Amino acid sequence: MPDVAFINGTFVPLAEAKVSIEDRGFQFGDGVYEVIRTYNGRPFALEAHLARLDRSAKALDLTQPYSSVVWTDHVLEGIRRAAYPEAKIYIQVTRGVAPRDHAYSAEATPTVVMTVREFHPLDKSIQAAGVEAMTVEDIRWGRCDIKSVNLLANVLARQQVKQARVFEAILVRAGLVTEGAVSNVMVVHGGAVATAPEGPRILSGVTRAVVLNLALSEGVPVQERFVSRSDLYAADEVILTGTTVEVLAVVRVDGKVIGNGRPGPIAQRLAASLRNRVD
Ligand code: PDD
Repeated sequence: MPDVAFINGTFVPLAEAKVSIEDRGFQFGDGVYEVIRTYNGRPFALEAHLARLDRSAKALDLTQPYSSVVWTDHVLEGIRRAAYPEAKIYIQVTRGVAPRDHAYSAEATPTVVMTVREFHPLDKSIQAAGVEAMTVEDIRWGRCDIKSVNLLANVLARQQVKQARVFEAILVRAGLVTEGAVSNVMVVHGGAVATAPEGPRILSGVTRAVVLNLALSEGVPVQERFVSRSDLYAADEVILTGTTVEVLAVVRVDGKVIGNGRPGPIAQRLAASLRNRVD
């Protein structure tokens, strides 16, 4: 089955999809993106992802060429063409091609790219056992709410994760947990879920919002507040949320055991609720 690419309105084989070396996404990281996955062949929370794409683009004064309705058609067509049991859809919109100059012209035509590839969900045994994380200093810029393709700090954090053979980097700024390098972080203390508030320090995760609503509907108190590194170590449970990780328990952080070293009851409940919701 083919990996599908889409470039400026046309579907092409992935190997044939090319953009100019003068594209501002390549030159400056001047662009925004989204990652969406399917469950049972249907894109999950597509509207929320497309709304965030719009918010990210607007925050960069980048004119999105497609409405959410048009995007939805392209995404569904991409999924149909790829025909994978489960797919991961990557969308990127950059400010387009122009001679290199940091400042941009309002007339620039955006470059629009999408790929649809096979998605391999996390192994069930990893979900059941939980994962290990490490803290990494959060050195990102001041607008982490914009899902921009400038991912250098995340790239470096993920490389540290790879070298340390752990699963995720939990980013810490001025002693406070912000989020993961590719996920949001929730910390359970005394039966309540605490997670960093929406704002410029975190990406407002689509899965984060779904999971917080599931928690509330199950009577689990939710606190949107920053948690310190020492509170993280002392947590009853630590949970990652995200498109690729879903709801995933962290059982060790920086070598310190969280709770009893196994996924806790709230992580298990939220993972089950999410599973119900997507099935
Ligand atoms: N990343 N925080 C960061 C920094 C992220 O990069 C992501 C997702 C999330 C979770 O957001 P959501 O629930 O909307 O997927 C939080 C994607 C998967 C990526 O960059 O590949």
